[in-house]
Amino acid sequence: MQDRFIKQISQLPADLAAELVPMLNRHFSGHFDPQQVAQLMAASGLSKSELMFHLLQIAKQLSLAPISQFHVGAIAEGNRGDLYMGANLELQGRALCHSVHAEQHAISHAWLNGETGIKDIWINATPCGHCRQFINEIEGGAQVNIHLPNTAVKTLAEYLPNAFGPADLGVAAPLMQKQQHTLYCDDQSDPLIIEALDHASLSYAPYSANHSAVVLELYDGQTYSGRYAENAAFNPSMMPMQMALANLVRHNHGFDEIKRAVLLESSAGALSLIDVSSDALQAISAVPLEHIVAEAI
Ligand code: THU
Ligand code: ZN
Repeated sequence: MQDRFIKQISQLPADLAAELVPMLNRHFSGHFDPQQVAQLMAASGLSKSELMFHLLQIAKQLSLAPISQFHVGAIAEGNRGDLYMGANLELQGRALCHSVHAEQHAISHAWLNGETGIKDIWINATPCGHCRQFINEIEGGAQVNIHLPNTAVKTLAEYLPNAFGPADLGVAAPLMQKQQHTLYCDDQSDPLIIEALDHASLSYAPYSANHSAVVLELYDGQTYSGRYAENAAFNPSMMPMQMALANLVRHNHGFDEIKRAVLLESSAGALSLIDVSSDALQAISAVPLEHIVAEAI
């Protein structure tokens, strides 16, 4: 089991802890498939709801919050019953706008795994306005059920009445809906660029057309990516660097393992994320940010 869970596991019911320990092995990155969920319920005798609130204690351990020391965990459930954990991430010494909220992290985790929607989300603290707005961007967002400790389940529409969303800006294909934007790059020899092209083509940038992605390569050769996810209210957008860093942290890697960092952006974008991405990267690494502009076709 990974060290970061040792303290929390001892607080969980013994039957649940025993079943969970082998799942929290060195490969664990915050995902449970439906079979594992069924296994955890059967072994622990807990209801789904009881299980989820215990698992939030594990999700919270994925948090890195050097500024607030306030650790938030979230778990998004995908369309087939997979669970995707996320937690907040703050970058030491950098502007607060660089932070990732637990809800954004969990939803981006589901999206990176190919999910096209979320039905339910569990959070250990009430979702802030920014997160309500972020959830409202996803396909069927208004109907997402929000589960909080000691609180009746309510839909996002109840937490965010009179919502402003993608439809107000004429966007018909919201976040997480499958869409593919074709981007082309001359250099096909660099695997990092190929990976960045793949992710940028799946990114969500209906407001700026800045289809973009970040790929981080570690010294051991593993890569962690993030895609740009814009928001109708602009400020709650999730940057590709933040998504990639959250992905890396979730996989239990340290920032000192980063060997290369690539930002790939579409030539058709109305803006560039180069400065904001470099600023975030410099907070945690001395590696320079490589910048590629791909042709939008
Ligand atoms: N936070 C969340 O992760 N979700 C919320 O909706 C509430 C706030 C995080 C952001 C920041 O890292 C810390 O909690 C303090 O606001
Ligand atoms: Zn929030």
